[in-house]
Amino acid sequence: MNYSLPSEHESRISIQGVEIALGFPDEFNFAWIGQRDVLDQLLAAWLIIDESDIPLNPRLIGKPGVGKTTLAYAAAKHLNKPVYIYQCTMDTRPEDLLITPVVDTTGGIRYVASSLVTAMIRGGVCILDEANRMSEKSWASLAPLLDTRRYIESIVAGLKVSAHPDFRICVTMNDDASTFEIPEYIHSRLQPQIYLDFPESEEERRILRENLPFIDEYIVDYVINFLQRAHVGNENYTIRDGINVARYAAKRIKCLNGNKGNVDNLLRQAIVMTLGDDALTYLIEP
Ligand SMILES: Nc1ncnc2c1ncn2[C@@H]1O[C@H](COP(=O)(O)OP(=O)(O)O)[C@@H](O)[C@H]1O
Ligand SMILES: [Mg+2]
Repeated sequence: MNYSLPSEHESRISIQGVEIALGFPDEFNFAWIGQRDVLDQLLAAWLIIDESDIPLNPRLIGKPGVGKTTLAYAAAKHLNKPVYIYQCTMDTRPEDLLITPVVDTTGGIRYVASSLVTAMIRGGVCILDEANRMSEKSWASLAPLLDTRRYIESIVAGLKVSAHPDFRICVTMNDDASTFEIPEYIHSRLQPQIYLDFPESEEERRILRENLPFIDEYIVDYVINFLQRAHVGNENYTIRDGINVARYAAKRIKCLNGNKGNVDNLLRQAIVMTLGDDALTYLIEP
């Protein structure tokens, strides 16, 4: 390692004489429910089994809303590591991913580490979220980090930063079309591929319950029945859609103020207003 480690509360570090401001980890209450196999697959990829071994850089693939970010976060917390989520976009530039120069109050230049580089320095976990939205140029800057070299080079700050041995990375990717193709040399550095699918109905029920502990069992049943029928129909609706429908329905029902309105009608409306008319195909009409 080419620097001394900052303490947990220190937000600055000096690397090769250059002062760098570090970021802060993401703190959420995300618990992973059900599907133990994908959690085990991810943890195994990160494991080091010998002094000469290095961790793998797994990617989580699945439809939007299927639980990729939640799984990566929960797995990292399982290892008791600080987690840094980096949201990738089409506009992410290499320096955004690594170290950005900013003008400080005195007019001088200050260097700020991204959440990725902060995780590398602190020995945390970085989740590159929705990473296939990034262009090839940004991916290229990660090539040495994702192989046995485990370092990045910041052109802007003129620095080479090596990853702490405890550093782990995981990327999530939606399997929809709105993304860039990933270059082959990066493809081969992001292994293994872990596929996430829809949960079973019992798991889906627990996930909904965990996320919305305050809603009525009737709403839960209604939404789970809807989701399961949609899965059978090969529709892309996920648990995130289910959570949105249930949350909105619960708000509408609350507004009835104890008046016994037509709850089924409000649930039906919540589905249409969240997912559109097509979703009605998957309702069991009374
Ligand atoms: N197995 C699971 N355990 C707990 N929550 C889940 C699970 N799967 C999905 N969720 C919930 O579904 C929502 C969408 O999950 P998220 O991880 O954001 O999906 P993705 O990253 O695949 O788009 C979140 O609110 C999350 O809490
Ligand atoms: Mg996500």
